Amino acid sequence: MIRFPPSSTTRRSLEANAEVDAAWAAVLGSVRTAQLLLQRITLSDLPDIERMHDDAQGMATLGGLRSAAQSRRSIDAWIAHWDEHGFGLWIARDAETGAFAGRGGVQHTVVGGRAEVEIAYGFLPAFWGRGLATEVAAASVRAGFETLGLADLVCFTLAANRASQHVMQKVGFKFEREVQHASLPHLLYRLAATEWRNAARR
Ligand SMILES: CC(C)(COP(=O)(O)OP(=O)(O)OC[C@H]1O[C@@H](n2cnc3c(N)ncnc32)[C@H](O)[C@@H]1OP(=O)(O)O)[C@@H](O)C(=O)NCCC(=O)NCCS
Repeated sequence: MIRFPPSSTTRRSLEANAEVDAAWAAVLGSVRTAQLLLQRITLSDLPDIERMHDDAQGMATLGGLRSAAQSRRSIDAWIAHWDEHGFGLWIARDAETGAFAGRGGVQHTVVGGRAEVEIAYGFLPAFWGRGLATEVAAASVRAGFETLGLADLVCFTLAANRASQHVMQKVGFKFEREVQHASLPHLLYRLAATEWRNAARR
């Protein structure tokens, strides 16, 4: 029988365990939110990712445009992350129309000199302002705490990205400190599983 780690599991639970990874992937591979279908990213999503990475407005806060070759490297890394850990970035599609809207999810990262697990999200500008990032952020937090049993999650963004900071705050993240990331000043936010559970009880 596959047993999930208890909610108090620490970061050590993310060490390799093929059986648990497969169980996580089965739970997290397809997630429905109010407006979105979130699915484990695959190579067939590459054309949509290329389109997103070729949008100057959308990529202005994500390190700038990415070439087709860079998009391929990105998607290969995201697919490898799912294969290795049983969770990762989802492709986000409008649940009604199936239209590609963006991407987001939970992934390992190194930020502020530490290994962390972050939530991430980004959408095509045509989909901004509909609450989609908040839905993905909330689904990511639930995945991180309920399914993966993490003790905490981080999220970080450029200081000028007020919309993203607002999304983080809406799902419960608190500002922790300023960090340099990709040689740029970022704001690092953190949410502990205990705080998230306490807020849900209120
Ligand atoms: C940042 C981003 C993800 C927000 O996506 P979104 O789907 O529009 O976000 P939501 O609609 O869920 O929520 C945005 C919130 O920020 C608010 N907001 C928007 N612009 C804002 C601004 N300039 N200052 C403060 N708040 C702002 C919105 O009013 C909304 O809050 P509300 O629901 O209380 O009204 C989107 O703009 C995006 O994809 N940008 C490019 C990629 C990116 O920056 N990703 C984040 C990297 S950390």
